[in-house]
Amino acid sequence: MSPKTQPNIVLRTAEPKDSQVCGQICYDAFSAINIAHGFPCDFPGPEAPIGMLSMMFSSPNFYCVVAESEGRIVGSNCLDERSVIAGVGPITIDPGAQNLGAGRKLMQAVMDRASEKHAAGIRLVQAGFHTRSLSLYASLGFDVREHLACMQGRTQQRSVSGCTVRPAQTADLNACNALSHRIHGFDRGTELEQAIHSGTASVVEREGRITGYATSLAFLGHATAETNVDMKALIASAESFGGPGILVPSRNSDLFRWCLSNGLRVIQPMTLMSVGLYNEPSGAWYPSVLF
Ligand SMILES: CC(C)(COP(=O)(O)OP(=O)(O)OC[C@H]1O[C@@H](n2cnc3c(N)ncnc32)[C@H](O)[C@@H]1OP(=O)(O)O)[C@@H](O)C(=O)NCCC(=O)NCCS
Repeated sequence: MSPKTQPNIVLRTAEPKDSQVCGQICYDAFSAINIAHGFPCDFPGPEAPIGMLSMMFSSPNFYCVVAESEGRIVGSNCLDERSVIAGVGPITIDPGAQNLGAGRKLMQAVMDRASEKHAAGIRLVQAGFHTRSLSLYASLGFDVREHLACMQGRTQQRSVSGCTVRPAQTADLNACNALSHRIHGFDRGTELEQAIHSGTASVVEREGRITGYATSLAFLGHATAETNVDMKALIASAESFGGPGILVPSRNSDLFRWCLSNGLRVIQPMTLMSVGLYNEPSGAWYPSVLF
């Protein structure tokens, strides 16, 4: 086999004006890999990733880098710095420039950044069918933590007895952050606060106290709850899930089977991977597509 030609890849910080090109690459890269494996694209069109990257490239909460080859952008990557655990993604390389080393450089850049910022750990979620990303992340030191079933639909059971789900408010932050500490060992308070302000967050109450929260019932949201009962109440409250679906940890057999028996469909397999601090969660939870 001939050795691959290594182009001269130069990295630089992403700027808001890069979001148009990077968003198109993001759409093209996910479309190509998903379609090649018989899965729908994660985005309905290029506008969604362009908008998402425009937000990330402009936000002080995200560290974002682009890779250029011969003066042309060939890919980008982002690091979510909103908690003590940093989240990677989306990382995408132009389909015509893949497998030439740009992805590894973009991953190393965000890992170096996380280390400079003393992040306690780094996490990401990869498409479970994608052999290249799985191999790349594992070789960079990421451990496989959880198999996830991306699920979509509307549960037949519309509520759970004894549980009340309502929009989250700023006054709920302390209780939600304390719950996250108990279950994961850290909180995601900044992310939750932003979700409360944007109106996507919800909490579940049982026996007069908060027993779970979701930043959103969506691909980009995460949820944490004391028990599966509380998590089922959160999931049952949604008419549908934003984006491709929510990421149900399939090792949580009770929750996974409840989702299946309620008519939810598995859209695609995904994998949660981590470097650094990782506590086995001691409750019910689902990650966002970042972690
Ligand atoms: C995943 C992605 C970002 C990787 O970027 P890339 O520039 O193509 O990858 P690189 O060339 O830097 O690295 C790929 C590595 O995986 C290895 N690899 C690829 N397929 C492999 C396989 N089947 N088994 C083992 N190793 C494999 C390559 O040999 C290379 O290893 P090396 O660095 O030791 O030589 C890019 O392919 C992409 O955008 N894919 C589509 C979108 C996507 O899936 N993004 C990730 C979301 S989690």
